[in-house]
Order: sequence, then structure tokens, then C-alpha cells
Amino acid sequence: MFDSGVGGLSVYDEVHRALPDAPIVYAADFAGLPYGTKSEAEIAARVAGLLGKMSERFEPRLICIACNTASTIALGMVREVMEVPIVGTVPAIKPAALASRSGVIGLLGTQATIRQAYVDDLEREFVVGKTLLRHAAPGLVNEAERKLRGGTVDRGVLAEALRGVSTGENGAMIDHVILGCTHFPLLSDELKDVAVADLGWSSDVQFVDGAAGIARRVVDRLAGQPFQKSGQNRFVVTGPISNAGGLESALSSREFAPAQAF
Ligand code: DGL
Repeated sequence: MFDSGVGGLSVYDEVHRALPDAPIVYAADFAGLPYGTKSEAEIAARVAGLLGKMSERFEPRLICIACNTASTIALGMVREVMEVPIVGTVPAIKPAALASRSGVIGLLGTQATIRQAYVDDLEREFVVGKTLLRHAAPGLVNEAERKLRGGTVDRGVLAEALRGVSTGENGAMIDHVILGCTHFPLLSDELKDVAVADLGWSSDVQFVDGAAGIARRVVDRLAGQPFQKSGQNRFVVTGPISNAGGLESALSSREFAPAQAF
């Protein structure tokens, strides 16, 4: 599994729950974090390079790109050149659009994700006769990284993101907010609380992410393959190992061995 940072752990949690015996290597590209402010070319180059290195080093049966930014930009490209099956993570626009009663859906993602043609295509296909309001919330990436290192979440940053997504046309009618960056579900309890307590939103507003669907796809792609686990899962990082400082308890509670340099 792969992400720019700890965000993909929101997907890991579901995959690990579904396949507790599957040995997982999780790579956090801390040397490239954040992806959301980078160009398409930079992101595509990092993703292709890292996935190539990972598959040589670890010979996985499957790769899960647990990052919306990397997937919406590079999924098609890496699938074409790599033989290993690749499952990506893209914003859960389809389930949110199907479930929305008010017809107004919010999408929170990184700057890079919300401008992708991939998202335009999902909108064209699934948001028929409804409205999708997109908003970039890069501040939430830092908050999730800090939270998993034991830091306090800044509610003001969360409130700003929620206000941002609801300022478009008919924004007050939003009934589903898509968490279109894998870092964001790590903050879903705080987001719900800020929405209701600080912004006065209805507690009926749903926060939607794709992690459970990704886990189902991973299980399907590996169907019939037995797993035998020896030892803990591995968490590897690019750049200095000190980038993983403070993550010890988030990792051990998820059955990872201590972080290692990649
Ligand atoms: N977790 C990543 C995503 O799903 C990106 C965060 C970032 O590196 O900007 O989009």
C-alpha cells in the first residue's frame, strides 16, 4: 500500500480488517509530502518511480494506491506499465450522488485532485441532475499528520474546510461530504463534531469515503489466494526516518513493526 504520508492508513484499516492474515507493506512517501500542491508531472513521476521500486523490492501480489491525488493522476499510466494488479483510490462520488436526497454534494480533496479530468468524468457520469461542490482543503492533510503523531487537531482549520465546501451555490443544502483525500477520514470524528457544534450543520449530513469499497476490491482481486503471515506488517518511509517520529503508537496499534527507511 502506498500514500504520500499517513493518509493511506484510513484505507489500510479497512484492508487489514478484511484480510488480517495478508502481510502488508505500507510505504509513506514523506520525502514527497504533500502531493496536493505539486504538478501533475511531478506526482506522476514520483508515483511511477516509487511503485517500480516497491514492486522490485517487495514483489507484492497486489498494489493499492491509497491516495486520491496519486490515483486520479497516475493510475491509468502505472497500470499500463506494471504487471502487478493495482487498485486505486478515487473520490467516492458515485455512492454519495446515489445517496443524496437534497441533490447537493460536497467534495473535499487536495488542490491537485479536485482539478483532475478523472473527477470531471465521475461527475459527468454520476452527478446527473445534482450539484457537486468541490473545495481544496490542504490544511486537513497537516492536521491528520499531526493527529497521528499525538498532536491536537486545530478545529479552526476543519471549520474553514467545511465552510469552504458549503459556500457554493445551494451549499447550505449539502447532505453528503465526500472525503476525497485519504488523510481526511482520519479526522472524520472531529469533522462531524465541528460541523454540528461549531457550524450548526445538521447531524444528518453524511461524511463519505471510499475505504470500505477499496478493501472489497482488494479482497476480490486476491480471491482464492491463501495468506500466511510471519511477523508484523511493515511501514517504510522515504526521506529521513525522523519523518516517522511520533507515529510509534499509531503504528503499533495497527500491528506495524517500527518504521523503517525505504
Ligand atoms: N493522501 C493523499 C490523497 O489522498 C494526498 C495528501 C497530499 O499529499 O497532499 O489525496
